[in-house]
Amino acid sequence: MEITAAAGDITRSAVDAIAVGCYEGAAAPEGAAAAVDAALGGAIVQLVSRGEIKGKLDQVTLVHTLGKLPAGKVAVVGLGKKTDLTLDRVRGAAAVVCRALRRASAADVAFAPLGAGVSGITVSASAQAIAEGAVLGLYTFRKHVTKEPENGEIKALTVVDGDPERLPELTAGAARGRIMAEASNLARDMVNEPANYMTPTDMAEAARGLARTYGLEVNVLDREQARALGMGAFLGVAQGSQQPPQFIVLRYNGRGAFGNDIALVGKGITFDSGGISLKPSEGMGEMKGDMSGGAAVMGALAALAQLKPKINVLVIIAATENLPSGTALKPGDVVTALGGKTIEIISTDAEGRLTLADAIGYARQQGAKQVVDIATLTGACVVALGEICTGAFGNNQPLMDRVLAAAREAGELTWQMPMFEEYKEQNKSDVADIKNTGGRPAGAITAAQFLAEFAGDTPWVHLDIAGTNMTDKERTYLVKGATGVPVRTLVNLVMGLASA
Ligand code: BES
Ligand code: MN
Ligand code: ZN
Repeated sequence: MEITAAAGDITRSAVDAIAVGCYEGAAAPEGAAAAVDAALGGAIVQLVSRGEIKGKLDQVTLVHTLGKLPAGKVAVVGLGKKTDLTLDRVRGAAAVVCRALRRASAADVAFAPLGAGVSGITVSASAQAIAEGAVLGLYTFRKHVTKEPENGEIKALTVVDGDPERLPELTAGAARGRIMAEASNLARDMVNEPANYMTPTDMAEAARGLARTYGLEVNVLDREQARALGMGAFLGVAQGSQQPPQFIVLRYNGRGAFGNDIALVGKGITFDSGGISLKPSEGMGEMKGDMSGGAAVMGALAALAQLKPKINVLVIIAATENLPSGTALKPGDVVTALGGKTIEIISTDAEGRLTLADAIGYARQQGAKQVVDIATLTGACVVALGEICTGAFGNNQPLMDRVLAAAREAGELTWQMPMFEEYKEQNKSDVADIKNTGGRPAGAITAAQFLAEFAGDTPWVHLDIAGTNMTDKERTYLVKGATGVPVRTLVNLVMGLASA
């Protein structure tokens, strides 16, 4: 879909459909909606007074223009109560109205800057939110479906505002929104891909493709190279699989060749069967998404390479499958992580933290000044926070506050969890330096405390996305399957760090 901005009178747009917003409980339409209403001879006001248009959040009413406007249809989308408006509601409304217009076979659409001027929302923020909502909400993954889709695609979206002086910011906002959402969709594509199409080798290929497209540095370590560096924890997980492990390193150097300002580390288990500590078969297929953290850091890097902040970003994905076999890691085994710490394996299903131990260790060895890791790490996090919200854990409150602010700006719900020292007790081993599970209570926290041992004194935040990486129901700009969370949070974080 092509996304542009234009200055002009939206009622004169010769497109298939025009989208305008209205508020719940408002007596009369405002702004673009008022102009469209006037051009339609008061049709919107009539529908409001008859109670057909209520302005309820995400309610879409299609009005046929019957020759009164160059556009064939007007879509009126409810934005809810004006006092409750947020940027995330604009994203959601844009998604919902776009899907309605796709069903109505619209190929090109014009949007008023929904919500601009309300709750501090600027036209550029509105344009960004509309672009994000549209691109995220219209996403489909049909690669393996041979049947043709029933609907066509919306091919062009223009955000139209009356003030020509605001056109540069409108254009910039729309462009930024498209970049952010397409980056999320890149991550979604990788997560939605079945595990036989997204092996560690496929992930490495995707990383090389990204490097080629955006001129990034890429380096993939194979099993022997990882062994030479002492990555015994990562290789322990990999030893049960026939697929060769791939330790993927990508670099975006926005401020010269030297130094790593931040490392983004993504969990890259392309399929998690649990290993010898085998998972129950019901729902096991969802574990194709156990590389969602890795997909997210790649997506974020794609966006950053286009937004070009002056900062150096190191991306690391220790990619492998976790499978049971005659060569697989066993409960009771001891492995040695990069840096020399020994780990007693209690459950081979707690494999993510093993791969992350070496990935975080490598990031520190590379001199990363701060580390953010993203992982579908624990079922316990899903129990604690559900599918609504990502869990955040860390050892440095200023970095945590930046991550939380970046998430808020993205509308990607994130909640900080406690990291009291007392929890570390549960990870103590009798036979090694640490064990890889701390029992059922506070499982998300003890997993984070395990990672904290490998982050050491480097400022570090861990995002547990086990609940938020996929959704089984459509929710405004999220569609069934992969969500692309937390790509936009990571982009906001790095952009913020670069401008600070
Ligand atoms: N990949 C899983 C966590 C997960 C669970 C992600 C549900 C998405 C949805 C992780 O590797 C795992 O298996 N964790 C175990 C840890 C336990 C053995 C300490 C878990 O949560 O059960
Ligand atoms: Mn597991
Ligand atoms: Zn896992």
